[in-house]
Amino acid sequence: MASHVASLRGWHPALARAEVSALLPNAQVIRLASRRLVRLEGDLSLSQMQEAVDCASGCQALLFDAIVWNNEEDTSNFIEQMRTYLETYPRSGSVAVRPMKHEGKMAGVSSRDLARKIGGILSLQGYSIDLEAPTHRLGMVLDASAGVIACGWMVGSGDDSDGITSRRATDRPFFKPVSLDPRLARLAVNVASGPREKGATLDLMTGTGGFVLEAALSGRETYGVDLDPLMIEGAQQNLDWAMPASKAQLLLGDATRLPEIIPSSAHNRISGFVLDPPYGRNSQGSLDHSELIQSVLQSAREVAASAADLVLILPIHPFGELPDEALESNASVELLHGEWDDIQSTFTATGWRINQRWVEHVHASLGRLILHATIAPQD
Ligand SMILES: C[S@@+](CC[C@H](N)C(=O)[O-])C[C@H]1O[C@@H](n2cnc3c(N)ncnc32)[C@H](O)[C@@H]1O
Repeated sequence: MASHVASLRGWHPALARAEVSALLPNAQVIRLASRRLVRLEGDLSLSQMQEAVDCASGCQALLFDAIVWNNEEDTSNFIEQMRTYLETYPRSGSVAVRPMKHEGKMAGVSSRDLARKIGGILSLQGYSIDLEAPTHRLGMVLDASAGVIACGWMVGSGDDSDGITSRRATDRPFFKPVSLDPRLARLAVNVASGPREKGATLDLMTGTGGFVLEAALSGRETYGVDLDPLMIEGAQQNLDWAMPASKAQLLLGDATRLPEIIPSSAHNRISGFVLDPPYGRNSQGSLDHSELIQSVLQSAREVAASAADLVLILPIHPFGELPDEALESNASVELLHGEWDDIQSTFTATGWRINQRWVEHVHASLGRLILHATIAPQD
């Protein structure tokens, strides 16, 4: 069984690990010594790997059945392993070696020197080298913090930033301060929705359409609901701008009454929910913060597929040092609005099980909690 390596972008590797797990549910995701490298154990097809990298916000590349070298060994050992690897996995067409550096420069190891030696093996094996537009790239990640090199045929661009992370919500025709950062929106959509074929994605409170745009752009069946007609109109403008032919549906209505709003063809087919609720009272002003979340979670359950996941984003007080992993299950967080204990019991009361939570910095006086929950089996 092949053992691939995922190379993660540096923004939030703990969230990126969760994203890779969600997009490749057949794989067991094992963290390596480095925070930005994970091993994927399990049977994965190349098309599954390609889809995951194309959708992902936090994964820069997957390295097919990668060789992992650590700096207790001599680099000549690594080159020998690569020689055998290239004989085991021949490719047709032109090739290039693509070095990627994580966490600075690795002491005593020259990526250029390694790339040259591997390039020499490739030439001897009859490959033509094309640095500009190769048919295949051999990804070589040098991780200075862990003293690890991972190398294998590459799926994905390997870029630190990509089309998602370089986009800004402020570029869109309809922007509000509540608009989510596209890379977080994409990541949340992926953690909630998993692989494309799993089912449809519903943004329960769309606002300017941050989640809807990412779900639609990643090729998912997408729905978005908002109570405010101005938001629905603005989100539609953003969608037409980002993806003119999109089939995503923006629906005016109350997310506490989903069965009345969602087209009947989508009932029981929504498997990915994303929720970024308003900060204070809701627009109707009739429910307080945790009551609103409770009613929405209950309503989501009524239109959910039997296997469904949800990602909720909540503002929190600043957290101190950003942990490299998900929070411990009993870690307390200070929400900006309401109490964590109330939110926690709301999930249990509405038939959702909290899986994992992460925190993120927004600015000096604001953080974010990102929560992943799974629907509990129906009685
Ligand atoms: C924080 S904003 C969402 C921001 C969004 N993620 C974005 O990228 O622009 C919350 C949205 O929830 C909407 N809202 C409030 N109560 C609602 C309800 N009961 N049903 C549906 N939408 C509601 C508000 O109109 C507001 O647009």
